[in-house]
Amino acid sequence: MSDFHLDDRIYDVIGEAGFARITAAFFVRVPEDDVLSTIYPEDDLEGAEHRLREFLIQRFGGPHRYSRERGEPRLRARHMPFVIDQLARDRWVLRMEEAVSEAGFGDEVNRVLRAFFDASATFMINRD
Ligand code: HEM
Repeated sequence: MSDFHLDDRIYDVIGEAGFARITAAFFVRVPEDDVLSTIYPEDDLEGAEHRLREFLIQRFGGPHRYSRERGEPRLRARHMPFVIDQLARDRWVLRMEEAVSEAGFGDEVNRVLRAFFDASATFMINRD
């Protein structure tokens, strides 16, 4: 089966609970990370966790609650107010890889998620 089809099915395989495990494991790391903790709003990490979780659920084949709440994702534009250089991008990917590993999915799911996070985080770089 190609990655394209697994992409569509990840929600069916890991469910709401799987995405909740990923984003919880990611956001528990944010305040501990010397780069990411300076970028994320420390008074609304719960809100940030909710938005990322809902986006991922929608992106990987689940209900479209994210767009009902937030409209078009336009993620690159939404990230412009935050300084995302190579260091911040690499730290985000590192913490997300740790989160995905901790969530304990199979190799194929891990591979698709990691490829997606790797590429989309590079796309979010907006400063030299
Ligand atoms: C490359 C490093 C990245 C950094 C430093 C970063 C940082 C941030 C920050 C500071 C916010 C605002 C928090 C909030 O929602 O209140 C945010 C929002 C968000 N980020 Fe990222 N982000 C990165 C990459 C990504 C990637 C790769 C994705 C998607 C796979 C993503 C998805 C989102 C979403 C869905 C929101 C909420 C947008 C909204 O509805 O307002 N981010 N990010």
